[in-house]
Amino acid sequence: MKFFIDTANLEQIREMQELGIIDGVTTNPTLLSREGADPNEQLRKICEIVDGPVSGEVIGLTTEQMVSEARELAKIASNIVIKIPMTKDGIKAVKILESEEIRTNVTLVFSQNQVLIAAKAGASYISPFIGRLMDDGQNEIDMLRETMDIINAYGFNSEIIVASVRNSRHIVEAAKIGAHIATIPFNVLEKMFSHPRTDQGLESFLKDWEKLQKKLQNK
Ligand code: G3P
Repeated sequence: MKFFIDTANLEQIREMQELGIIDGVTTNPTLLSREGADPNEQLRKICEIVDGPVSGEVIGLTTEQMVSEARELAKIASNIVIKIPMTKDGIKAVKILESEEIRTNVTLVFSQNQVLIAAKAGASYISPFIGRLMDDGQNEIDMLRETMDIINAYGFNSEIIVASVRNSRHIVEAAKIGAHIATIPFNVLEKMFSHPRTDQGLESFLKDWEKLQKKLQNK
């Protein structure tokens, strides 16, 4: 399972990159606006840190606008992937861009039917927003399971990016289902490292070690 980090913050990306656990980055207009920098310049800096796919999103709503924005974004770096919203115009844009070998990530996906359409359009990546489904009281894990059933049943080439992750349990569920990728916020990645029993275990090992050192000194 690949891990992407869902942020546009350079420090967070650098920290996880140095740990060697991230395979790519996803951004969106909200995440980029939080950083307050020029979005294209920010994406360029992210692409310098990470070799894997880095998603940047188009803002236009028509196919023409999306395609022209995507062509510009694609010039930033060879690892840029274009996030396209799951609309009719977006799906038309996906077909055009994929035919030009510009990789797309269909975003704002909330249903299995949308997954099927995006996969048929040839999207390189498809991003179901499971956390927002959960916020709406829907069963996000069932949606993800059926998504993977559909992708695997027909051997679609699209990779599923589990997005809008809310907690570390989401990652376990996504891994059990065999989702290709999870894009994970920094705070959730941090929580995935820790367990209170690890800290307690380490503390008691060190205390016992110190006791032994004292005993040896007094011999
Ligand atoms: O990057 C897309 C997605 O992960 C957004 O998540 O937390 O705004 O629902 P969220």
